[in-house]
Order: sequence, then structure tokens, then C-alpha cells
Amino acid sequence: MAADCGSREEMWSLAGATALVTGGTKGIGHAIVEELARFGARVHTCSRNAAELEECRRRWEEKNLQVTVSVCDVSIRADREKLMETVCQTFDSKLDMLVNNAAQLFYKPTVGCTSEEYSNLMTTNLESTFHLSQLAHPLLLHASIVGGGSIINMSSIGGSIGFAGYTIYATTKGAMHQLTRSLATEWGPDKIRVNAIAPGFITTD
Ligand SMILES: NC(=O)c1ccc[n+]([C@@H]2O[C@H](COP(=O)([O-])OP(=O)(O)OC[C@H]3O[C@@H](n4cnc5c(N)ncnc54)[C@H](OP(=O)(O)O)[C@@H]3O)[C@@H](O)[C@H]2O)c1
Repeated sequence: MAADCGSREEMWSLAGATALVTGGTKGIGHAIVEELARFGARVHTCSRNAAELEECRRRWEEKNLQVTVSVCDVSIRADREKLMETVCQTFDSKLDMLVNNAAQLFYKPTVGCTSEEYSNLMTTNLESTFHLSQLAHPLLLHASIVGGGSIINMSSIGGSIGFAGYTIYATTKGAMHQLTRSLATEWGPDKIRVNAIAPGFITTD
């Protein structure tokens, strides 16, 4: 007799789990928030636009998904610290998953790139991932999900291949791969898994 495996939701239940997903109002981040929440996780997300966040929160509430939101520009250190304080309070000093998703794509031939553009992309895409991981570490140590805490860094195929006109963006993503490997080895003994996902082109906002 075939075993009753239950529904997809039962098999992959995340009931009781908690997640922070940056950049959840659009695109890939929005889809991740919904998917995690559909499997029962409580999710907190952020972006820079308060009105869009509230609209998303309202729609998620209508779908009975447990999602809280707060404004955060991940390129600003003080904003990142405030975000993690909010997450700490919301999830009682514990976190199971951090998804470093928020980032900006930037196209410009390299010779024309300014130091401000370089610095802005490095801060938004790379430094935010490093710092949010640092801030999340004590919360992830108390993860209650089976297998321990988990960090997912949203990288790009641009981090592994030549990407003409996207040099700064591709550099942030290439560095993200090394950050991921280093944190995975450093925090493995703490039972915190660190992985990166590197999609190709996806039509998003
Ligand atoms: N789409 C692709 O083809 C593709 C391919 C490979 C990798 N990726 C990666 O996947 C991730 C998501 O991409 P996407 O295409 O879904 O992007 P998207 O549609 O532009 O959405 C980006 C999300 O991040 C937020 N965000 C951007 N800058 C932010 C900041 N400084 N602080 C806080 N939130 C910020 C945006 O909201 P606000 O702008 O309102 O703040 C939005 O919610 C990125 O890491 C990207 O590099 C995308």
C-alpha cells in the first residue's frame, strides 16, 4: 500500500519557522516571501518604499499569510541595525532564515562609472549582505528549525561569468560567492548553513 505523504504543504511545512527576506515588495524577493509564508513561516521583509510595503502587507494579510514589514534602506548601516532590532523583537530574539535578496542591477560601460556609483553598488549589494549576516548571527544561533539556521544570498550568474557593461554589479555578486563560501566554513560549526543562489535572467519589476 502506498504511504500517505500528505499535501505538499504538510511535507514541507515551515510552521513555527521565522525568516527575514530583504527586498520583498517586488520580483524574486516578493515570491520568496509568499512561498515561505505559504509553507507556514512567519516572515519579515523590508524595502525603501513605505507605501508599497504597506500595500504588500495588506495583500498578504488578506491571504492569511503572516508577514510583517518595515522600511529599511539596506545601503545604510543604521537602517540595517534598526531592521535587525525590529526582527529581534518580532521573532523573540530568534531567526531561522535570512535571505539577503535586496540589490540593484546597474548597467554602464566601465570607463564611465563614477566612484559614487561604485561605492553605492558595493554598499547596497555586498556590504549589506556582510553586515546583515553579522547582525543575524546571534539570532541564527537560536534557530529552532531542524538543521539549524540558514542564510541564502541572492547572487547572479553575473557573479561567475563575464558580464560586459555590468562590471560593478558582477563584481558585487562574484564577491558574494566568496563571502558565502567563507561564512559557510566559518559558521558551519555553529550549525548555520550559508548558501548562494545564482539565477540567470528572470523577468521581474
Ligand atoms: N531578475 C533577474 O534577472 C535576476 C537575475 C539574477 C539575480 N538577481 C538578483 O535577485 C535579487 C532580486 O532581483 P529582482 O529582479 O527581483 O529585483 P527587483 O524586482 O528590482 O526588486 C528588488 C527589491 O529589492 C528592494 N530594494 C532595492 N534596493 C534596496 C535597498 N537599497 N534597500 C532595501 N530594499 C531595496 C526593492 O524595493 P525598493 O526599490 O522599493 O527599495 C524591491 O523590493 C537581486 O539580488 C538581484 O541581483 C536577479
